[in-house]
Amino acid sequence: MAPMSDDSPQPATPEIVVAGPEHLDGLVACHRASFSRHGNVIMGLGKGLLRSHCRFYIERADAICVVALDAQGRVTGFVLGGSPDLQRRFVRQHAVHMALAMLLRAPFNASLRRRLWAAVRRVAGRAGRCLGLVRQEASPEPAVTEPEGRWGTLYMIGTRRDARGQGIGEALMRRFDEEAARQGFRTMRLVTKAQNEVAARLYARAGWQKVGSVGDLDTYERKVGGLPSSPSA
Ligand SMILES: CC(C)(COP(=O)(O)OP(=O)(O)OC[C@H]1O[C@@H](n2cnc3c(N)ncnc32)[C@H](O)[C@@H]1OP(=O)(O)O)[C@@H](O)C(=O)NCCC(=O)NCCS
Repeated sequence: MAPMSDDSPQPATPEIVVAGPEHLDGLVACHRASFSRHGNVIMGLGKGLLRSHCRFYIERADAICVVALDAQGRVTGFVLGGSPDLQRRFVRQHAVHMALAMLLRAPFNASLRRRLWAAVRRVAGRAGRCLGLVRQEASPEPAVTEPEGRWGTLYMIGTRRDARGQGIGEALMRRFDEEAARQGFRTMRLVTKAQNEVAARLYARAGWQKVGSVGDLDTYERKVGGLPSSPSA
C-alpha cells in the first residue's frame, strides 16, 4: 500500500476488475446495497436466485461481469452484460424456480404481481393467436432496428449507496467497454427507465446515445471502443 503523505483521508481509487468466483459473495451483497428490494425483479425473487444470477454472469464465456473493489477488497459497484440472449437463457434455466418464487412472493409484492399478470397476459395472448382466437395486432410503436455486426447488451449497473458520486459508475463503464471490445462486440445496447436521470447522465457521459423509446423505457446504444482506458486495467 502507498505511504500516506498527510493525515487527511483521500478516497482511494477503486480497483476495477473482471469478476471471478471469489467475488460472488461480494457481488450479491453489492446488488442488495445498490438496488431497492423491489427495484430489480431478480432481487425481488430472493437471495438464492440472486446468487444464481450473479454466478451465471461470472461464469458464462459470452457474459461480461466487472466489479469495483475498495481498499478492503469489498465490492462497491458492478456492471453486467454480454450477449443479448443471456437473460433469456438464465430465465429458461431457472424457469421453475422463478415461477415458484413469484407465486410465493406475489401476494406481498405489488411489483411482482404486475409482472406476473403481464406474463399471464402474454402467454394467454400467444396461445390465443396460435389457436386463431386472437388477431395478430400491429405493434403500436416502431421497433428499434438491430445494430449491424456482433452486438451485446449492458444489462445492469449499480454502485453501493454509500459509494456513489465517486466516479465508480464511470470507471465501470470504461472497463466494460474494454471487455466488450476484447470479446469482439461492435455495438452495445441498453434499456433503461426514462425517469432514471442519474443513470441517463452517466450513459451520456460515457458516450451512449438514445436510439428509441417504448413506453417508459429508453434504448441507448454506443459503438464499442474509444473510451479512455481505465487506470487499473
Ligand atoms: C447510476 C449509478 C450506477 C451511478 O453510479 P456512481 O458510481 O454514483 O456514478 P458516478 O460517480 O460516475 O456519477 C454519479 C452521479 O451522481 C452524483 N452524486 C454525487 N454524490 C452522490 C451521492 N452521494 N449519491 C448519489 N449520487 C451522487 C455524481 O455527481 C454524478 O452526478 P452527475 O451525473 O450530475 O454528474 C448509481 O447511482 C446506482 O447504482 N443507481 C441505482 C441503480 C441504477 O439505477 N442503475 C442503472 C439502471 S440498471
